[in-house]
Amino acid sequence: MSAGNPPAALTGRDAQIEQFKRLIGRLSNGLNEPSMILWGLRGVGKTVLLLEFESVADQEGWTPSEPIEIRSDTDFRAELADAAYAALLRLNRRKAIGEKLKSFTGLLAGFKAGVGADGGLEFSFDPNAIGGSTGDLERDLIQLFVELGETARSHDTGVVFLVDEMQFLGRAEMEAIAAAMHRMSQLKLPIAVVGTGLPQLPGLMVEAKSYAERLFSYPQVGPLSEQATREALLKPAEEAGVEFDARALAQIVEISGGYPTFIQAYGKEAWNMAPGPTISSDDVEASAPIVQTKLDEEFFHVRFEKATPRERVYMAAMADLGDGPYRSSDVAKRMASRPATASSLRDALIKKGLIFSPDHGAVDFTVPHFSPFMRRRYPLEAVAGDAPAGGSER
Ligand SMILES: Nc1ncnc2c1ncn2[C@@H]1O[C@H](COP(=O)(O)OP(=O)(O)O)[C@@H](O)[C@H]1O
Ligand SMILES: [Mg+2]
Repeated sequence: MSAGNPPAALTGRDAQIEQFKRLIGRLSNGLNEPSMILWGLRGVGKTVLLLEFESVADQEGWTPSEPIEIRSDTDFRAELADAAYAALLRLNRRKAIGEKLKSFTGLLAGFKAGVGADGGLEFSFDPNAIGGSTGDLERDLIQLFVELGETARSHDTGVVFLVDEMQFLGRAEMEAIAAAMHRMSQLKLPIAVVGTGLPQLPGLMVEAKSYAERLFSYPQVGPLSEQATREALLKPAEEAGVEFDARALAQIVEISGGYPTFIQAYGKEAWNMAPGPTISSDDVEASAPIVQTKLDEEFFHVRFEKATPRERVYMAAMADLGDGPYRSSDVAKRMASRPATASSLRDALIKKGLIFSPDHGAVDFTVPHFSPFMRRRYPLEAVAGDAPAGGSER
């Protein structure tokens, strides 16, 4: 589906946007304010909110990095160096920092190489050059943020790093970010980090550094309210001279559960289905099977494919229990597996971002409405039959 594509109307996120504005406003004034970690399920609108923050930052005279998307194989040092450099270029365009820009190159080059900069002659003649990287991520990140923060402050701006899919960072990387932000709050420098990720992200951050609890605020990005769902549908329609009748709206509110991915998918197909300028509940009903097939193939299936055959059995056993959350012990029983085997499958699925643990001893899917998808397409008996021998240990 159109993941990460800005919607025609971004609705229901005023609170988060206000909080972000307050954050950069306070940092601009030399005050402390926790950075933000936004968490929520897949398809709930985290990426587009991050993109919205990018443009808000820009409008408010701040300098956003380009959003970094973390994957399990991301070279974080290199990505961060690129993002910092892009931010410096933006800063330079806005404020003409001139020579200062060059002084960062040694440090950033060291970041990209992942080891200490060679301390080469090139920079020893430059009295303004910032020392090269040490190869220790935490120290290097603190140094980068301090230099960047001071540069930004002396030009009356600030820099915000935008990090998407942050749950895929390793522990050392989370530790380094927390340590660098700790230093920023001590020095009251205008650097912010806004991360988005799956529900396990806040726990991972606090596990990495316990003081991450107060350095960040952790707002949830949840499904849209009924009102915001209606607006998401009505605003773009109105601009195109189209309307949804009341029953059609109520139906989409109901089947989407307020999840933006589903709202957009149903809104679009029902619109395509409607013969005239009014979208009726008949159009919503007629488009439902088309939407479901599309969602199955483009939204759910890509997630399912990330799992190994044995992990699929685990997910099928979850779904077989009904809708979540589930007790891990019930899942193990349902898949007739030894607890140790089940728990290693569970951990692997959490790591892949397919499930999370909402509570001790509990699991649920990170993708909304995934459970009915599994029952529809991959029921337990079918998936268990496909798994390699040993898939269910008795
Ligand atoms: N607040 C919103 N209002 C309307 N549509 C939204 C909103 N947030 C997201 N969307 C739409 O929902 C879909 C999923 O958004 P995305 O940001 O990719 O979700 P996530 O990153 O949480 O998986 C996209 O098509 C996006 O345009
Ligand atoms: Mg996303």
